[in-house]
Amino acid sequence: MKAPPSPQTSTLWNLMQWIIRPLPFLDECAKRYGDCFAIPFGNLPKLVFLSHPQAIETIFTANPNLFDSGRGNWILRSTLGDHSILLLDGERHQRQRQLLLPPFHGERMRAYGQLIVQITEEVTHQWQVGQPFAVRPHMQEISLQTILQAVFGLREGDRLQQLTQEIGTLLDYTTSRFGFATAFFPVLQQDFGAWSPGGRFIRLKERIDQLLYAEIHDRRAHPDPSRTDILSMLLSAKDAEGQSMTDQELRDELLTLLVAGHETTATAITWALYWIHRLPSVKEKLLAELDGLQPPFDPMTIARLPYLNAVCSETLRIYPVGFITELRITKAPIRVMDYEFGAETYLVPCIYLAHQREDVYPNPQQFKPERFLERQFSPFEYFPFGGSHRRCIGAAFALFEMKLVLATILSQYGLTLATSRPARPIRRGVTIAPDRVQMIVTGDRSTQKQALSTVMRQ
Ligand code: HEM
Repeated sequence: MKAPPSPQTSTLWNLMQWIIRPLPFLDECAKRYGDCFAIPFGNLPKLVFLSHPQAIETIFTANPNLFDSGRGNWILRSTLGDHSILLLDGERHQRQRQLLLPPFHGERMRAYGQLIVQITEEVTHQWQVGQPFAVRPHMQEISLQTILQAVFGLREGDRLQQLTQEIGTLLDYTTSRFGFATAFFPVLQQDFGAWSPGGRFIRLKERIDQLLYAEIHDRRAHPDPSRTDILSMLLSAKDAEGQSMTDQELRDELLTLLVAGHETTATAITWALYWIHRLPSVKEKLLAELDGLQPPFDPMTIARLPYLNAVCSETLRIYPVGFITELRITKAPIRVMDYEFGAETYLVPCIYLAHQREDVYPNPQQFKPERFLERQFSPFEYFPFGGSHRRCIGAAFALFEMKLVLATILSQYGLTLATSRPARPIRRGVTIAPDRVQMIVTGDRSTQKQALSTVMRQ
């Protein structure tokens, strides 16, 4: 049985490429080695990257007990803690998933629609005609407020404000290249005083913990059975032995949802706004679809719009925010296409490379929402939210939020990109984001036609 090809470059070189330029590095490896290759990074075990739909199918449909993923997420431990769903495996992982999934689906999710629209309007209200602004911070503010208010049930007040600020700082740090690199060089995480990077990170986490624990204690002290938010639900949850979650477990899970849920969605909306305004024909079709809606806008009608759905799908195809899934560490030998992998192999379903396959997506570098109207892709060809027992628990919620935020913004503002320079995909922590997207408000929707012609002239 053959072994997957591997680059001959040094493991440190590979690690630097992975940190600094992950997508070009993956493109180069795929061009050179094909559908399956193994890369050693620093002193870590080799990662085996897979992108062929048949290989993805084998992994996503295999018995989940064949893989561990939680221990492969060690990089997140210092931020999220030992009890985070992302760090768990086996039964404990399954139990946490069952607890966390329902609030992100169905009726419970739909109830957040109006709030998402309202938060979007409040945040974008600051936009001034003619003044360029960076898109990402605004989208981050929207997605953070959404998760804090809708999902955690935090109401206006000092704690909400402080958490918004501190979580923003935490993410700026963990998503910077330096912050990401510190995970591989533990000396950089040490506390050499309040001004050292490690020291600042530790103090920041302490401040966030204080806020989260204060909220947990308040809610324990004043239980309100009418509340349906996640924190209330987790507080009343009991395991098979009748035990409730400890404060530490609650803290880790809340922080996980905050971190996993808001950065990713903000990046996806930023990319979508970029593509919509980069390509006049996309914008034109989308506005025509939105203009066909009758106010007052109903969130579920917006969520079902076919072209808006295709734009969001293509946004998550071309540069998937999470560009690899969690690792699948084999616990027993497994055959994947022509390869036989032994136990303790670190398999990586590579979302980015799977979405760039010329045989599945002709001209993969082209942003073309119509692909998603012309055919249906299998969950092994298109999987921006991963798959199987580790599939993103916030997938439906994230798509719902993306669509509502985009529809709200586009139906109220005429926007144009501030420059004609193409946005570059760069690493932001464990995600891929555009390097910079700046926009200008050209007016309200009454001047929309003018805005469109400005974009077309670029
Ligand atoms: C556009 C936005 C998002 C993208 C692209 C995204 C993508 C992903 C991906 C690729 C995975 C790994 C799945 C796998 O290994 O098979 C994942 C896991 C996860 N996501 Fe998301 N996500 C998004 C939004 C959210 C939101 C809104 C939440 C919750 C508030 C969330 C919570 C999680 C959690 C808790 C996991 C771990 C699941 C597990 O290990 O069982 N994500 N996400």
